[in-house]
Amino acid sequence: MNRSLDIAQLMARRLIMVGGKGGVGKSTMAATLATIAAAHGRKTLLVSTDPAHNLSDLFGCEIGSNGCAIPWGGGNLQALEISPQHALDTYLESVRQQMLPHVAVHLRGQLEKQLHLTRHAPGSEEAALLDALTRVIENREEYDLIIFDTAPTGHTLRLLNLPSVMSRWTEGLIAQKERAGRFRDLLGKFASAGEESDGGASAQLAPLIARRARFQQAAQALQDPQISAFLFVMTPEALPLSETRRAVMALESSGIPVAGIILNRLLPPEAEAVTFLRGAWACQQQILQRVADELAQVPCVSLPMTGNTLQGREGLAWLAAQLVAATEADVTKQKQPDSVTAGLS
Ligand SMILES: Nc1ncnc2c1ncn2[C@@H]1O[C@H](COP(=O)(O)OP(=O)(O)OP(=O)(O)O)[C@@H](O)[C@H]1O
Ligand SMILES: [Mg+2]
Repeated sequence: MNRSLDIAQLMARRLIMVGGKGGVGKSTMAATLATIAAAHGRKTLLVSTDPAHNLSDLFGCEIGSNGCAIPWGGGNLQALEISPQHALDTYLESVRQQMLPHVAVHLRGQLEKQLHLTRHAPGSEEAALLDALTRVIENREEYDLIIFDTAPTGHTLRLLNLPSVMSRWTEGLIAQKERAGRFRDLLGKFASAGEESDGGASAQLAPLIARRARFQQAAQALQDPQISAFLFVMTPEALPLSETRRAVMALESSGIPVAGIILNRLLPPEAEAVTFLRGAWACQQQILQRVADELAQVPCVSLPMTGNTLQGREGLAWLAAQLVAATEADVTKQKQPDSVTAGLS
């Protein structure tokens, strides 16, 4: 039997990543957690990194890549939809601004060509998305809690591994530039004894060094269980279970803490008595047993399948109350959370 997910403990973190297979309820749960946190007076930012955003629909207001305050969030709830395209444009523009002063006028056409190629290169959008994500993490002091509604699992895992990959890549670039700088200094000494080198190399290095530091800090924050938590959402079906198991193992081996699993859309026990639901109910029960056997170390909480609308202020407040009640029902015997239901109505 899995321990129950302790929602008060989860909410005490500064960064929560919500992940899981496509369509299992990640955005809905991320918005619900954000609603709970904001209702408790925590200044909360919900960030969607899924290219197919739906936070605007969930909250019933236009969000976009500049972010906005949710009108009914009591001043504590903000949301942001990072668009990979917008992130890439911003990123390439910053590269252009950094490079231009160091590129001879006759080579500027080459620079534009390189930027164009980079825009269409595989992985560029992901890298730019990561750049935007690490900036949000870097500026986390503005918020008490940041919740990331991520794209389906595979994508998210790649994204989480990118800081170390990108940091190694940046490392290589820095080493290359340092070698080039030293060589130029040496040549300079031969050409004009005693003359200062132009400082261009160190100006080019500065943004790379800053980026390396930002990636390293983001990776450290994500791996620190005092700061971060990764929460999975899954429906009790075979494929979401396999994907969640693989992701839990991958995260644990990268040192990223797994806080728990929300088992979503459970059929009620009454379904067993309904002929056309009996098979589906039995399948769900088998998967729940496998979760208990194969993911015994991960705390869980279950939410029922509902016919309610899970959008807008009322829908999300209703689901928030369900989630808190479900976790409290399981943990009351173990501890008394500081009534996380307060302020949700
Ligand atoms: N407990 C539930 N009962 C009934 N419907 C639910 C429940 N949880 C979520 N849903 C519905 O399931 C649909 C998918 O949810 P959601 O968009 O949150 O999933 P997602 O994992 O973010 O999807 P995607 O991978 O496409 O981003 C939505 O229509 C949502 O309202
Ligand atoms: Mg989603």
